[in-house]
Amino acid sequence: MAGFREYKIGSKMFGIALGGSMTITLFFPSINIASVSSTDIALTKQLEMGHETGFNLDDPMLLGWNKPLGVTLKTDPKTGQALASDTVVFVYKKGTSFPAGILHPRILGEGIQQLSVEQGHVGDARKDVGAVFTLSKGTYQGKQYTYIENLTATKGWTPSDVMHVAKDEDVSNAGKGKTMFVREGCWWCHTLLPEETQDWQVFGAPPMLGDFNGESPTAFGSDRKAPDLLHVGSRNSSKEWMMMHFFNPRLVQPHSIMPRFDYLWGEKDASGNKIDFVKWRAEYDEYREGKRVTPPDVPSYASDSEIRGLIDFILSLK
Ligand code: HEC
Repeated sequence: MAGFREYKIGSKMFGIALGGSMTITLFFPSINIASVSSTDIALTKQLEMGHETGFNLDDPMLLGWNKPLGVTLKTDPKTGQALASDTVVFVYKKGTSFPAGILHPRILGEGIQQLSVEQGHVGDARKDVGAVFTLSKGTYQGKQYTYIENLTATKGWTPSDVMHVAKDEDVSNAGKGKTMFVREGCWWCHTLLPEETQDWQVFGAPPMLGDFNGESPTAFGSDRKAPDLLHVGSRNSSKEWMMMHFFNPRLVQPHSIMPRFDYLWGEKDASGNKIDFVKWRAEYDEYREGKRVTPPDVPSYASDSEIRGLIDFILSLK
């Protein structure tokens, strides 16, 4: 039975090799990742996107429910007086889940964690009443950090106070938009990950590990069928261009293979009129056949439409 003995030795060696490599793969990186501090990009992204932009129980059909709003505040929501400078705050209405960094401040990293808890009072944020957050600067053990401040605890600013003074054009639905990005499979063609090659001369700097702290899911993309979008808002900040391009990419890029996303406009335009997609298409066909000089106008979008969120998200990618 000499062969059987070798079989046993072989099995043990295989077990050790597999167990060892699984330990290295699963355990070592988790130690490493837990020790990475959040960059300012990661902190902004967490507050902007909220808890989860993939499948989750707050938004099982990925419709953009329960997502925070980014608001550029010009007036103090309590006193109504003009603020010295525009302040970006993130409004979590009642019922909106908080992002990982608020639920588990440990993932924020040394310094940011302590400041967010001790000075930022993130631990006092309550989902059943909602909260307003901002990014502030502070010093911990002699070093400067950006940390998360819960303005509802430190200044008494509630979500409804802020929404009361916010103008619609100063509100960003980027969290909802990232959900659309995930749901619509934009990552099937686009990446959000310029590589450390000549790539970055075209698409901008590659991200750092700490930029992804608390983000779920990341949307790196797999394949590069289309331009990288990590910094697309810096190349092109035109809302009008984005509207035309999403309604029908062929309006601005005649040979584009990108699909139309006109259905993200929903039923009604910004004035509440029903969008007549059939008529639009007929006019567009006339334009393509040379019977019209200009293509039909792209409808305006309602402020609660899915396309609004998507464009807010795309333009936030600076
Ligand atoms: C079938 C592949 C495909 C899919 C899916 C796709 N795109 Fe594109 N996209 C392209 C291609 C190709 C281009 C370049 C040509 C053009 O501008 O249309 C492009 C261009 C763009 C641009 C302009 C990029 C630049 O560098 O200026 C943006 C923004 C964009 N896409 C966003 C999106 C979003 C958001 C989605 C999901 C809702 C999406 N795309 C889905 C293929 C795709």
